[in-house]
Amino acid sequence: APDISLTAVKSHLSQFQSIATANGGNRAHGRPGYLASVNYIKGLLDGAGFTTTVQSFTYNGATGYNLIADWPGGDPNDVLMVGAHLDSVASGPGINDNGSGSAAILETALEVSRQGLNPAKHLRFAWWGAEELGLRGSRHYVNNLPAAERSKIKGYLNFDMVGSPNAGYFVYDGDDSDGVGAGPGPAGSAQLEKTLQDYFASIGVPTRGTDFDGRSDYGPFISVGIPAGGTFTGAEGVKTSAQATLWGGTAGRAFDPCYHRSCDTTSNISDTALDRNADAIAYAVWTIAASTPPA
Ligand code: PHE
Ligand code: ZN
Ligand code: ZN
Ligand code: ZN
Ligand code: CA
Repeated sequence: APDISLTAVKSHLSQFQSIATANGGNRAHGRPGYLASVNYIKGLLDGAGFTTTVQSFTYNGATGYNLIADWPGGDPNDVLMVGAHLDSVASGPGINDNGSGSAAILETALEVSRQGLNPAKHLRFAWWGAEELGLRGSRHYVNNLPAAERSKIKGYLNFDMVGSPNAGYFVYDGDDSDGVGAGPGPAGSAQLEKTLQDYFASIGVPTRGTDFDGRSDYGPFISVGIPAGGTFTGAEGVKTSAQATLWGGTAGRAFDPCYHRSCDTTSNISDTALDRNADAIAYAVWTIAASTPPA
């Protein structure tokens, strides 16, 4: 799997920051900074050979947009989706939440194109609208998929907050191996979890599970039985001393002290966490997309 360029991922974050700054300081649902963010990504993907679709929906009296990007080829009956929410809260530019996941999957998609990847599975990337208002875009997408299309999606990988400044290294606990919080997700979620864990093990970074409770855009997918997985570097939760021993950083401080605040800017990013997670995304995409479906 390729080494994703941290410099390239951060250049996308700078663009999201500039878009927010030029549009009232945010990239929220129903605000001009959201659609400008969609158009930035769409332009790059169109130029890279993806087939892009903008799906509109209405929420709270405003139009929202999902951006869907298909990489031509692969088994149309065995689709791997990779997604991130692109909207921010209204109070700030949303660079860690979720410029980070949006930029990391964007650079992974662009690398798929540069390498001319010809995977066994069909690859589809998605940037969701209005996650911050209750997973509105991803739910709209899943609920409006014809049953025949829904059954072709064999897995969904979600990335929401992957550059937290006081980072933890969490993988969604799709099999509920810790017996804490939500129960196991759809069969197949465990394999997605293991693939992400394998990458972090390969670079010597310990991971922990995080509750598979549907608190991001994988929720609508697991609700209809689609296996899902993903990583997370922490939000408002406070790092314990055991976690600081494990990962470094500051005990007694939030993983992201600027969570949902105006200070979630390009300064609110751990380069190390963002780099490791971007590489984990590419590893998972290359590994999972290369494999054919279980017989
Ligand atoms: N979905 C939350 C938000 O955007 C962040 C989050 C992601 C929380 C993953 C838990 C797990 O604010
Ligand atoms: Zn988020
Ligand atoms: Zn959020
Ligand atoms: Zn687990
Ligand atoms: Ca659990």
